[in-house]
Amino acid sequence: MYSKTEIQRLQKDTQEFIKKEKQGVVFNKEVDALRETLRFHEHRYYILNDPLIADGEYDKLYKLLEKTEQEHPELITADSPTQRVAKGLTKDFPAAHHLVPMLSLDNSYNRDDLIDFDRKAKELSGLLAIEYCVEPKFDGGSISVIYENDLLVRGATRGDGVEGDEVTTNIKQIRSLPLSAKFSAYGIQQIEIRGEVLINKSNFAKYNEQLMEEGIPPLANPRNAAAGSLRIKDSKEVAKRNLEAFVYHVSYFSLLKGEKIPVELTTHSGSLQLLWELGFRSPEKEKRVFKNIDEVITYCADFEVGRDNLPYEIDGMVIKVNNIELQDKLGMTSHHPRWAIAYKFKARQATTKLIDVEYQVGRTGAVTPVAKLEPVPVGGVTVSSISIHNEEYIREKDLRIGDAVLIERAGDVIPQIVKSLTDIRTGKEKKIRFPKTCPVCESILFKEEEEAVWRCINIECPAQVVERMIHFVSKDAMDIRGFGDANVRKFYELGWLKDIPGIYNLDFSKMTGMEGFGQKSIDNLQTAIEKSKTQPLHRLLYALGIRFVGETTAKTLARSVTHLLDLKKISLEDLQNIEDVGPKVAGSIHHFFSNDSNIEMLEQLEKIGLQLNNEKKEESAEGNLNGQTFLFTGTLPTLKRSDAEAMAEANGGQILSGVSTKLNYLVVGEDAGSKLEKAKKINSVKILSEAEFLKLIGQK
Ligand code: IVH
Repeated sequence: MYSKTEIQRLQKDTQEFIKKEKQGVVFNKEVDALRETLRFHEHRYYILNDPLIADGEYDKLYKLLEKTEQEHPELITADSPTQRVAKGLTKDFPAAHHLVPMLSLDNSYNRDDLIDFDRKAKELSGLLAIEYCVEPKFDGGSISVIYENDLLVRGATRGDGVEGDEVTTNIKQIRSLPLSAKFSAYGIQQIEIRGEVLINKSNFAKYNEQLMEEGIPPLANPRNAAAGSLRIKDSKEVAKRNLEAFVYHVSYFSLLKGEKIPVELTTHSGSLQLLWELGFRSPEKEKRVFKNIDEVITYCADFEVGRDNLPYEIDGMVIKVNNIELQDKLGMTSHHPRWAIAYKFKARQATTKLIDVEYQVGRTGAVTPVAKLEPVPVGGVTVSSISIHNEEYIREKDLRIGDAVLIERAGDVIPQIVKSLTDIRTGKEKKIRFPKTCPVCESILFKEEEEAVWRCINIECPAQVVERMIHFVSKDAMDIRGFGDANVRKFYELGWLKDIPGIYNLDFSKMTGMEGFGQKSIDNLQTAIEKSKTQPLHRLLYALGIRFVGETTAKTLARSVTHLLDLKKISLEDLQNIEDVGPKVAGSIHHFFSNDSNIEMLEQLEKIGLQLNNEKKEESAEGNLNGQTFLFTGTLPTLKRSDAEAMAEANGGQILSGVSTKLNYLVVGEDAGSKLEKAKKINSVKILSEAEFLKLIGQK
């Protein structure tokens, strides 16, 4: 798509922009070049999976474009990278009539089915051999997108195949779909393209984790998550799901005056190549062209073996007659084309019986119901229990003990119950009664009003104590190798380990002679425990298992303090001034540090020799306002402007010269003029009085 010289030019431009951005130079003449540079990097990232710059550098360039466009709205173009920005709620999705109906595919499941398909195609066409193009069958939600005069003008869901929902704004959130593409270079005026919207496995897992953290039932599989995303009314929510799209079919095109059909569009593989060249994510790298059906069958079988190594879900392969003229000749039935067939992989769904529900207590006291199932093989793994998340999930899915349930294991995604088969109930099924007391310590369970999760709030609950220690020693936390779940449980049961500080006071001599404990493993464990004392502060902070404090938040928090116990001194309000810390996270941190026994535990850990100081922090001497930007305007009641600026800088803040989207805080005094007016229009700028500013830097 980009030639070597173009890549070199765009890389040079990138460096130039980064330099100018640092100097704060505003450019409006070069805005087109900046847009092209951004599109180039988006293509490297979203299509080629091979970025040339760091995410942060891309963000800087993007912000620069955003700022320039904000200051010069007349320069904005419909296909500017900024125009994907989610624009709030869609009221209704109007009907979108597809230019060509969206048909489904006929299915095949084995070698014989494919041989049959090939035989019929030969018979109908009178040919002795047919060329096929084979590509993955993506497992998501189908979409149809129209480009006119090189611009994306409409995106729609499949609907009933004739008419779908017009979801253009949501479709624009998909970074792998270009907002404009040079179809005109191929003589094309209008084109309708079909494709599939997906969520890759890791984004799906992350999204579900986030839902569960918020007490919202998770989504059953990436397919439902992707397909459902298109009809969400809030496009900001759509953007959060990180959707991707593969395009695999040109259903219609019209030519510019005097132009001829481009040769690429005379074959299917050529169409995929054309789309790839224009910056789309087509299965250009995954496709293969074969001249006989046996090779097709082998390719399909090979792909099935490797399906789990793909970052996204596929449920089979699609075999298409490669020559478009021949496709037209073969035509279609009312349901599906005669020139294509899906080859479906082995099912990853199975039905089984829900025999019982057990309850597990996590480290934050959350009580999770786990369905015990009659063991059943799904996609090569035997499944006998599945988390059913919370009470609301059970209600929503109408699960009962004794039910036949449909389960699915989507690749390496954790198995889920898709639904209960209510039609075949016998009447003997029993409702699931969520316990009122903790299954481990028997204290009464509590549930917050807006939450779906019941919790045991007894922090001494043995289940929680053990889970907290398991989290503490885990790989992403203190990374104490060789400790693991089993040893935590064993030492706890033996009474050797009661709490986190106890990890550092274990009597290793007692372990000698114990089954599974050779001298070498005892020595290794001792060394690993000792070594963990030097783990950096952010790991310790994460290891404490404070609700809502994941690895990223732990890093931000660690950067904002010089000593862990500083967090005890920061008010609930000020905690929220820390980057990415909202009221929920702040509340949880505040709650943790207000508890005397937690403070006592931290003091013990410090005595033992753990790292509660933030060493890096001292080196860089940054304050609480690390990286935050300030601007002062008007006459401040008590401070001289230069003094106020120096105070902001002394705390790690940075002073800007004008109001822009880069500005975090505008501190206003009397007679503040146009700067205040301008700042009010930018949502992200916080407007502070002098008193509020002083409070922010910890001077009341
Ligand atoms: S071609 C007229 N190619 O599978 C033929 N479809 O079960 C148009 N799908 O409705 C479809 N990957 O949503 C085609 N590489 C691929 C596909 C694909 C996934 C979906 C598509 C279709 C469904 C049929």
